[in-house]
Amino acid sequence: MKPIIDVLLTPADLAAALRADVVSGLSEPTGRRTLPPKWFYDERGSQLFDDITRLAEYYPTRCERAILEAHAGDIMTRDVSTLVELGSGTSDKTRLLLDAGTGTSGGLRTFAPFDVSEETLRSAADTIALRYQAAGLAVHAIVGDFEHHLGVLKEIGEPGRRLVAFLGGTIGNFDPAGRASFLSQLAAALAPGDRLLLGTDLVKDPARLVLAYDDPAGVTAAFNRNVLSVINRRLRADFEPDSFDHVAVWNDVEEWIEMRLRSTRPQAVLVADLALKVAFEAGEEMRTEISAKFRPERIFDELAAAGFDLSQWWTDPAGDFGLSLSCRLG
Ligand code: AVJ
Repeated sequence: MKPIIDVLLTPADLAAALRADVVSGLSEPTGRRTLPPKWFYDERGSQLFDDITRLAEYYPTRCERAILEAHAGDIMTRDVSTLVELGSGTSDKTRLLLDAGTGTSGGLRTFAPFDVSEETLRSAADTIALRYQAAGLAVHAIVGDFEHHLGVLKEIGEPGRRLVAFLGGTIGNFDPAGRASFLSQLAAALAPGDRLLLGTDLVKDPARLVLAYDDPAGVTAAFNRNVLSVINRRLRADFEPDSFDHVAVWNDVEEWIEMRLRSTRPQAVLVADLALKVAFEAGEEMRTEISAKFRPERIFDELAAAGFDLSQWWTDPAGDFGLSLSCRLG
């Protein structure tokens, strides 16, 4: 079976969203500028993130994989007919869930990967459709933005339970208000009894956290600066990525890691497609990502506030990363 691909977000929509984000983020006064992390992931950025997941310092991917290896069978119970994955990327770790769901004790019929990148999604959907063809798995891919298009989940899949997987700790890219709105929109798109599988990185020694986001090999630095190359190419800007230093700091009050780019010198940048000129002072920092880290109680409270009932909570043996399975209340 060939995958079905629904495009809710056309290349033109994406281009408009990038323009809006760059205008609003860079028009802020000196020192308050931001760029949202979703623009990191062009082809090179996705490759660099993949490289990050293999760094010794970057533990989240390995920890989450270990949890999925241990508990895929508990997660993919026979009543789960549809697996939706938000921010699916290459759906690498998700194969553990697909294997369990299509195995003898599973009842999985449909896999619905959901991502902003049409290119990544098409190739992942093709690969998975081929790999699980014999198992009779239907692949229904959705090109969309999970900040806007969660409503479509109402129409996806087979009768039976839906399980929405949001892995990797990507929920940490939202601030608390963004998280609350995301979780309640998700709850609204699900039926009572549907489930959420949520990966969350946990609060730990700040030195380890900073190292995970500022690796000595400089892979995360290259990933961070890549957002400037994305803007250069897509909006005809003239950022010199090498004139910005990578910065990763632990924000103790908010309990999140902040990535920033720090201008090494005074410089003016032109974003030609926006007719926007931005002056940076020497040492001025621009925030490019927050990656929130959680205490278990906080996740449990936020899930409950959005209408999810916690069924299971697992961590890796060292307690670095958490995976929760919860059920949309009726
Ligand atoms: C893909 C959002 C989960 O926050 O750890 C990795 C992205 N940024 N290194 C994270 C990221 C820097 C990652 N997420």
